[in-house]
Amino acid sequence: MKIARFSQLGFILAAAGSAVGLGNIWKFPYIAGEYGGGAFVLVYLVTVLVIGFSVMIAEMLIGYKGRLDGVGSFEKLSPAGKSGWKYAGFMGFTGLLILTFYSVVIGWIFHYVVVALSTLPSSVSEAEQSFHQLLSAGIGTQLFYHTLAFMAITSIVVRGIKGGIEKINMKLMPILILIVTGMFFYALSLDAFSKAWEFMFVPEWSKIDSEAIVVAVGHAFFTLSLGMGAILTYSASLPRETNLTRVSLIVIALDTGIALLAGLLLFTFLFEYGAGPAQGPGLVFISLPAVFYEMGILGTVLALLFFIALAFAGLTSAVSLLEPMVQYLIDRSNFTRFKATLSAGLFFYIVGIVSILANSSEFSQQLTFGSRNFFDWMDFITASVLLPVGGLAMAIFVGYVMPKTQVQAALKGSMNDRGFALWYAAIRYIAPAALLIVMLNLLGME
Ligand code: PHE
Repeated sequence: MKIARFSQLGFILAAAGSAVGLGNIWKFPYIAGEYGGGAFVLVYLVTVLVIGFSVMIAEMLIGYKGRLDGVGSFEKLSPAGKSGWKYAGFMGFTGLLILTFYSVVIGWIFHYVVVALSTLPSSVSEAEQSFHQLLSAGIGTQLFYHTLAFMAITSIVVRGIKGGIEKINMKLMPILILIVTGMFFYALSLDAFSKAWEFMFVPEWSKIDSEAIVVAVGHAFFTLSLGMGAILTYSASLPRETNLTRVSLIVIALDTGIALLAGLLLFTFLFEYGAGPAQGPGLVFISLPAVFYEMGILGTVLALLFFIALAFAGLTSAVSLLEPMVQYLIDRSNFTRFKATLSAGLFFYIVGIVSILANSSEFSQQLTFGSRNFFDWMDFITASVLLPVGGLAMAIFVGYVMPKTQVQAALKGSMNDRGFALWYAAIRYIAPAALLIVMLNLLGME
């Protein structure tokens, strides 16, 4: 069982490290770009505050009270006769599925750190070509960097909560926050900043449709690391007497803050150099490198800092995607940490190779099923289906299965009676209803 616990600050940085990831810097700006900016951002912010916040407290509570891995914590907190709820703890497996593409994208970022150091592409079309070249023909290069990512992630997780995860987050998170804020202040001095601000914060309601709402809710879960047990597993190592409301508000503020700063600085750079906002997943790998090239020597420095920050963000999230499964194997199957890390790690490493092949021109045909290839299916199934389902399970468990008195007692030091009443209503009615609507919409979309 757990011996080493997080320090309070260590937990906050680790949970924020989990939340702040590729979702904030790579994904959020391009989906905001695709779904029209301001209106999307507003829907996303409301979702984060209402649903994200209440589900985060629920997820933290399960780990904080359960003190075990996901399966063990659900089992321990289940009332007599309802031990079937332990199966909800298997959502930790979602993390491994996410890692099958997440690690590959971290690999691309490593590659772009090298590109920033050597030669940036001199135009958007050149950048587009080299990115597509990497995906379609660069199997060896991607494999090399995916292997590096696998080694980095597993070598942190194998050192455990205290010596690995807390330590790395204490180092990388402050650097990441510094780089993003520093770059934001530079963006603030450019003319195009006001245009970026307008794009991100002035809502154009005509651009919002049901698909945009589904994407915004799915992304709120993804970006806050909710619904798969990452926050749950970390919370099992929280110091006793933690104020869960305060801690989750800080994590949410950091996550949202970094996403908004990243969005603003990216769009400022893009608008300053006349590039468009909607570029899809290639936004940071295509438009941005070309813009950095235009900036000359300063651009090289910015590119380097940017991709390093992105790599840090990715790694601190990746360790939280692996830890739930590792903790499960240690707690339930009596694996040593080494054996648990290696077996869970090899799973995402090997399946990740399939994701690499799915994007290549040589194998894409065999690895495309219906409208998506293997890589995109993993992204879609995890972010849009499994995380919301996991979040729904947590909301129902805490809202309906656990006795109210037990929940209230557990949150005694975290909120007053009025706050509890509000939160309890959100977790019983608002979060499940919103998640169900999203899922029904999803069925209609496919
Ligand atoms: N929150 C991370 C991101 O924004 C991804 C993640 C999802 C991490 C789920 C852990 C659990 O990139």
